[in-house]
Amino acid sequence: MNRNLTDSELVQVCEVIAARIGLHFPVERWAILGRNLALAAREFGFQNMNEFIQWLLSSKLNKDQIKILASHLTISETYFLREPQVFTALSDFVLPELIKSKKKRDRSIRIWSAGCSTGEEPYSIAIALHKTIPEIKDWNISILATDINSKALDKAATGIYGPWSFRNTPDWFKTRYFHDLGDRRFEIIPEIKNMVTFYPRSLIDDNIFSAIANKMDIIFCRNVLMYFTSDWVSKISQNMFQSLSEDGWFVVSSSELSAHVFPMYTPVNFPGAVLYRKTKKEYIQPFDFSLIEIQEPLKQPFQLLSFVPRIDEDLQQLSSKALADEALQPFNPSTLQQPKSTPEESYADKIFAIRLLANQGYLSEALSLCNKAIASEKLAPGFYFMRASILQEMDKTSEAITSLKQGIYIDPDYVMGHFILGNLFIRQRNSKNAKRYFKNVLDLLNGRANDDILPESDGLSVKYIREIIIANMQIHE
Ligand SMILES: C[S@@+](CC[C@H](N)C(=O)[O-])C[C@H]1O[C@@H](n2cnc3c(N)ncnc32)[C@H](O)[C@@H]1O
Repeated sequence: MNRNLTDSELVQVCEVIAARIGLHFPVERWAILGRNLALAAREFGFQNMNEFIQWLLSSKLNKDQIKILASHLTISETYFLREPQVFTALSDFVLPELIKSKKKRDRSIRIWSAGCSTGEEPYSIAIALHKTIPEIKDWNISILATDINSKALDKAATGIYGPWSFRNTPDWFKTRYFHDLGDRRFEIIPEIKNMVTFYPRSLIDDNIFSAIANKMDIIFCRNVLMYFTSDWVSKISQNMFQSLSEDGWFVVSSSELSAHVFPMYTPVNFPGAVLYRKTKKEYIQPFDFSLIEIQEPLKQPFQLLSFVPRIDEDLQQLSSKALADEALQPFNPSTLQQPKSTPEESYADKIFAIRLLANQGYLSEALSLCNKAIASEKLAPGFYFMRASILQEMDKTSEAITSLKQGIYIDPDYVMGHFILGNLFIRQRNSKNAKRYFKNVLDLLNGRANDDILPESDGLSVKYIREIIIANMQIHE
């Protein structure tokens, strides 16, 4: 079975694979291709490689056969929150703008994760939506997730993942949106699972595109097209362009960004990420802040966000040179440590600036800004809470506990403070203290409606917190 294929056979096999699956196998990957074809031959029931190659080159493969072949030739590597800057751009800018515009219309959002593999990408998107949309039940959200590899989709549909899928996620991601099944496996909660629909579909099948013309608000197609032949890349990206609604977004991975390959889209720069947009606008404002709806009043200093307009000629069209100069400032955390402080700079401004730094991984800068905020406003418990989150990220649990205790000292009714303290004590295996703080939370929540959302909880409901606490108290009895 394990015989080496000749160059001439490999060239012909590559043509079949390019035509039927879209994949490109350069000469450097022929050794891998040969090995994977041997595995495919076995699954198709061939004992003899010659016979398999003859069959592959001469038969008209049906859809199921193409899927089997693809499952051996595609790379299904993926994990939750892959390229986190993309998810920050999504949660902080793209979704708020979309929500604002859709709120006045049909309250529907359609997202497509094309080449979703085992589901970590569409579920990460669902979680971003869940965190960003306050009353998600009133919205019609559809996340379509497709892949040619049915085995990957079967795993996606179980919603059960091991530690490797969480290699890039913060604690809250797993604790809030997954049930621990034991055995180091975690199952996504039904609320998120139900937001995603998986379909086995090939991207080189035109039917999938005609069904969704002009309908999608955002298409993710990350780490997929990089394996395709250049003809297919341009055809698929054109088709995706047609599938997007006006002003829709097309998201590829940072290694696939190319103005040459995706000329019909307009690149828009975000901190650490570039997304493509289908738009008729003559130029792209670095970002139109008037579209972002933020609950607290926010006087955002522009350069904080460090959006860089896409190319020089865009800049010439910006009406204000000053604005352009400011926008071109490279992201510099030290300037953020001393934001242009105005006497009326609000609590929300400061929290926003600290969160931005922390989200981008500038933890010590975020911490120092937070300490300054505490020094100037000692009685605002939110800063202590924020500082504890940063310290947690830095793996400084004891300091995080101290900060939370200070916050609670100022405001003993600060529910989230008690809740996080309980969780931190669990992490320290101190169940006695954990129970004490969890009990405080239950007492404070007494009489509150189940669907109340707790302030500064990133959208957690009273019911959800009660359930987590009860589960935790049982486990650690
Ligand atoms: C590396 S994974 C990317 C997963 C995810 N998008 C991410 O970025 O983490 C590439 C996926 O593309 C899928 N794929 C390859 N060829 C395809 C095709 N012709 N149609 C649909 N999906 C395809 C593979 O099965 C694989 O699951």
